Amino acid sequence: MVKRFIKHLKMAKRTIVSLPGDGIGRIVLEEAIRVLTSAGFDAEYIEGDIGWEFWRSEGNPLPQRTLDLIQKHKVALFGAITSKPKEEASQELNPELRDKGLVYSSPIVSLRQHFKLDICIRPCRTYPGNPLNFVRRGIGDKIEEPVVDAVIFRQNTEGLYGGVEWSDPPDQVYDALMTHPKFIKNFGTTPKDELSVSTRIFTRKATKRILFAAFEYARKYGYKSVTLCEKPNVIRETSGMMYRLAKEIQKSDFPEIQLWNTNIDAQMMWLTKNPENYGVIVAGNMFGDIVSDGFAGLIGGLGFACSAQFNDEGVGVFEPTHGSAPKYADYTESIVNPIAMIESACMMLDFIDENEIAGKIRNAVAKTINERTVQTYDMRKMKGSADALKNGAASTHQMADEIINNL
Ligand code: NAI
Ligand code: MG
Repeated sequence: MVKRFIKHLKMAKRTIVSLPGDGIGRIVLEEAIRVLTSAGFDAEYIEGDIGWEFWRSEGNPLPQRTLDLIQKHKVALFGAITSKPKEEASQELNPELRDKGLVYSSPIVSLRQHFKLDICIRPCRTYPGNPLNFVRRGIGDKIEEPVVDAVIFRQNTEGLYGGVEWSDPPDQVYDALMTHPKFIKNFGTTPKDELSVSTRIFTRKATKRILFAAFEYARKYGYKSVTLCEKPNVIRETSGMMYRLAKEIQKSDFPEIQLWNTNIDAQMMWLTKNPENYGVIVAGNMFGDIVSDGFAGLIGGLGFACSAQFNDEGVGVFEPTHGSAPKYADYTESIVNPIAMIESACMMLDFIDENEIAGKIRNAVAKTINERTVQTYDMRKMKGSADALKNGAASTHQMADEIINNL
């Protein structure tokens, strides 16, 4: 009886919020859903409104109804959105919304902040047979292709992207800054209206959460170390706090896992020399963003870079790292690589414990790449243009078809 109930539960249809957004986001999301369905993932997709269209027509690229939908169903697959500079955004508003003082802000950043999606995971793994894999010259001029298997844990809500910043700061802020001896010494003679200040605020709670998430992942998947990639020797308060907490957490909860400590600048150098030495990496918001793009470049770039972001209340949003690539958005037959989106969908499956289907799709992606026959333009190292298809590159749809064939 219990068994039958559990089986029934597992078979119950999931509801997934799909957020296509703009440009190629719409295209790759559709292909990813096709792959999910073909792999046997039984779900209902409810489309949520997000992106440029809703900015223009409603003055809000992330309407409340979309937030409600995500709150209700918890799990969302997101394509990409288009952001434009303030002035341009205002000009594109529908005429009746202009001059109402509406200010555009990126809906994906708003989404992360609204749901406090503070844990961001960006795995960067080499696929055998991917012509875009990093190669280097070894001893005796031998060409080496080191295996990259790095998983970056990026704090997703605080730090330099926390949005607490000023140009010509208000008096109270200025006066507070003037209580700091270093401020007086280095900036005290600069006129206030020539100052721009962006803060880097870390909280203990969020810092501990990202550290725990990284260590737990390392334990679960058998990584021998966690590398903290910050700059505690210079940024003493925020990076320093993160390093101290990392040492404490390692000692008390994860004694079997080593803690490595690298500085972001040195890490960028090392990742192009010996990326195979790194596994789980954890960092604050901006350094996490930087180091994950660095590793993404080693495994093939934006066509392969996937991500998961979630909070402590079970809300998860899964998206490729790339944006809406407007220059490829309107092709009659799309040429962009759907793998980053498909891999992000696999991370969603991990999140809801559909590991078997995730594994099936990952194997099919790996097989498709290693066959080396069906390759999108980026994998053929071609210039992105409509001619790419004539010259042998696969379309987005064909790539997804081949992955489906290989399931
Ligand atoms: P982008 O990631 O959209 O595109 C940069 C370039 O990367 C493209 O021109 C293309 O050459 C390549 N590329 C991207 N995705 C690819 C794929 N799946 N397959 C093959 N090649 C791919 O970044 P860009 O051009 O800086 O920004 C375009 C728009 O996207 C902007 O409006 C920006 O604000 C937005 N954006 C949105 C993001 C999001 O929704 N999370 C993230 C980054 C940018
Ligand atoms: Mg980035």
